[in-house]
Amino acid sequence: MNIVVTGASKGIGFETVLALNTDPKNEIVAIARNEEKLRLLKKRSAYPDTISILPFDLERFELYETVLKPKLNDAFEAVDILINNAGVLIKKEFEKQNYQDYDKQFNLNIKAPFALIQLMLPYFNKKAHVLNISSMGGVQGSSKFSGLALYSSSKGALAVLTESIAEEFKDQDIRCNCLALGATQTEMLAEAFPAYKAPVSASEMANYIADFAIKGHYYFNGKILPIALTTP
Ligand SMILES: NC(=O)c1ccc[n+]([C@@H]2O[C@H](COP(=O)([O-])OP(=O)(O)OC[C@H]3O[C@@H](n4cnc5c(N)ncnc54)[C@H](OP(=O)(O)O)[C@@H]3O)[C@@H](O)[C@H]2O)c1
Repeated sequence: MNIVVTGASKGIGFETVLALNTDPKNEIVAIARNEEKLRLLKKRSAYPDTISILPFDLERFELYETVLKPKLNDAFEAVDILINNAGVLIKKEFEKQNYQDYDKQFNLNIKAPFALIQLMLPYFNKKAHVLNISSMGGVQGSSKFSGLALYSSSKGALAVLTESIAEEFKDQDIRCNCLALGATQTEMLAEAFPAYKAPVSASEMANYIADFAIKGHYYFNGKILPIALTTP
């Protein structure tokens, strides 16, 4: 399988690459801004030769065609799985969230997945799987948390994008699902909720994501699946 994982330098994305890398038949492109951490990921992996690191700031939309596309082309002629995992959470009271906070969260959490899917459309194999990593906060009717209005809204948009992509590309056999994650112990969670300890580690969640990325689209398409022990 040829697989692209965004947000691979730490947390859930880092561990997802390691989980996918237990099978040497998986060729993985790992994207994030921090090149040093991506190098560490390669060092930590069982089959480093099957991981290509691609340091890139996914908010630089003006560079997608000129920089990102050629680099992806260097790695792969075609793609089987895209995991849109990179995300950002800015926890602030609603009155204090400013336009920069809005742009940052919506740029990375919804515009980047939109732009990446669009960029990769010509390269998807039959039965390709686009897997969007959202949050329980982005699911209609779930518990909401103060300070996460923009984060949760951007993740809700990603969930609905998933349903729309599945419908629009069903004839091309491109499948798209969304995992709405519950609390998972990572830097993102620790920064937002320092006193809280999640019941699931990044590697436990990553094992589920890696498995679902490989097999989930044979059973689901256009689905938003809650993967959470905590949030009702
Ligand atoms: N942890 C949770 O409890 C939880 C719950 C629900 C959903 N999620 C979702 O799960 C995903 C992973 O979360 P996490 O907890 O593992 O977060 P994390 O530890 O903060 O990791 C975020 C990843 O995104 C990358 N990233 C951030 N800005 C980027 C940019 N501009 N361009 C490219 N990459 C960028 C980071 O790499 P660089 O800094 O190197 O760029 C990093 O690899 C996110 O989408 C998050 O919303 C997490």
